[in-house]
Amino acid sequence: MAIISSKQQPSEPDRRTEGKPRSHQVAVSSGPLLATATPESLVQPEACPEEAGKQEERLRPQSLSEYVGQKDLKEVLAIAIQAAKARAETLDHLLLYGPPGLGKTTMSLILASEMGVACKITSAPALERPRDIVGLLINLQPGDILFIDEIHRLPRVTEEILYPAMEDFRLDVTVGKGQSARTRSIPLPPFTLIGATTRVGALTSPLRDRFGLIQRLRFYELDELTEIVRRTGLILRTDITDEGAAEIARRSRGTPRIANRLLKRVRDYVEVKAAGTVTQAIAAEALELYNVDPCGLDWTDRRLLSVMIEHFNGGPVGLDTMAAATGEDSQTIEEVYEPYLLQIGYLNRTSRGRIATTAAWKHLGYTPPDSQLPLLS
Ligand SMILES: Nc1ncnc2c1ncn2[C@@H]1O[C@H](COP(=O)(O)OP(=O)(O)OP(=O)(O)O)[C@@H](O)[C@H]1O
Ligand SMILES: [Mg+2]
Repeated sequence: MAIISSKQQPSEPDRRTEGKPRSHQVAVSSGPLLATATPESLVQPEACPEEAGKQEERLRPQSLSEYVGQKDLKEVLAIAIQAAKARAETLDHLLLYGPPGLGKTTMSLILASEMGVACKITSAPALERPRDIVGLLINLQPGDILFIDEIHRLPRVTEEILYPAMEDFRLDVTVGKGQSARTRSIPLPPFTLIGATTRVGALTSPLRDRFGLIQRLRFYELDELTEIVRRTGLILRTDITDEGAAEIARRSRGTPRIANRLLKRVRDYVEVKAAGTVTQAIAAEALELYNVDPCGLDWTDRRLLSVMIEHFNGGPVGLDTMAAATGEDSQTIEEVYEPYLLQIGYLNRTSRGRIATTAAWKHLGYTPPDSQLPLLS
């Protein structure tokens, strides 16, 4: 309880955060924050600029009970919250990893509100200079959550400042230069660092080891996404049938951000067509128009698979060859396109290269060659 009441003391007013609820304060440091990528297609999981505003905030669940899916994660975090509250301590530092748009930022804001503390949000590219992170750390109130997005991109110096801060709530600063330089330690209030990353393997092990909890977010099941679409429909006051919601969910690549985005586009379509309720047929019609196929594949996904099938007889084909053949960047193929194709079983990664599975051949209307069948299935 002591923690909660101390949170409610007014902090130094900051022009950019004044007037906003404490739990939604945004970082004081400059530089790019969240959601700067513009998706080329509707089913890219990264946030686009229009999804960084107030509109989007309305769609975020506000409590653990409103947060759909991720059952294991919610269970682990509910226990952590209860234990921390019982001991009147801060939450352990938490690392959340998983593909974009699955709810990492949302979960951090929920943790802050469940703990009754403020959440300061920043992202690693905004912490280029040591003074950026120092400024954030010394302005924390006891118990606050510091959320760092894309934490795998932290510069080395910033990371080194974080080590003692995370471990002992201490800031080591060097005063003076050359021979007269001395290190001074400044105590910090206890706080919780939440790091989010889409690439946990890119974190250095000293940083990873300092997180008490490391949790993965997984793609959502169809029924979970359907519930998310229904929930968003209520918030946006869009009438939608259960089948309509399921149709959007099916094309959302297991990702709530995409589900919300597709629903918004379907809503536009319905409004223009004056059709009233979103039914399954209307959702399907609208999404065909936006070039999102029944499995949520867009033009690039289909092209990747059809190049594999047409030019390489379904594979195996190496990543770099794929990149050259399609004109896509190999890192983008690996990080943006492949996870979902692997997830739905349209692609296999083998030591000899990528293979398009039988399901992919069939989905795109090709007949898999008999000789490939044992390899592909
Ligand atoms: N479990 C959930 N239930 C309902 N809606 C969700 C859930 N998770 C995410 N959302 C919705 O999806 C959107 C994207 O979520 P969020 O911004 O938390 O993703 P993220 O994992 O932080 O993505 P990124 O890696 O791009 O930062 C949110 O606006 C929220 O409305
Ligand atoms: Mg995020």
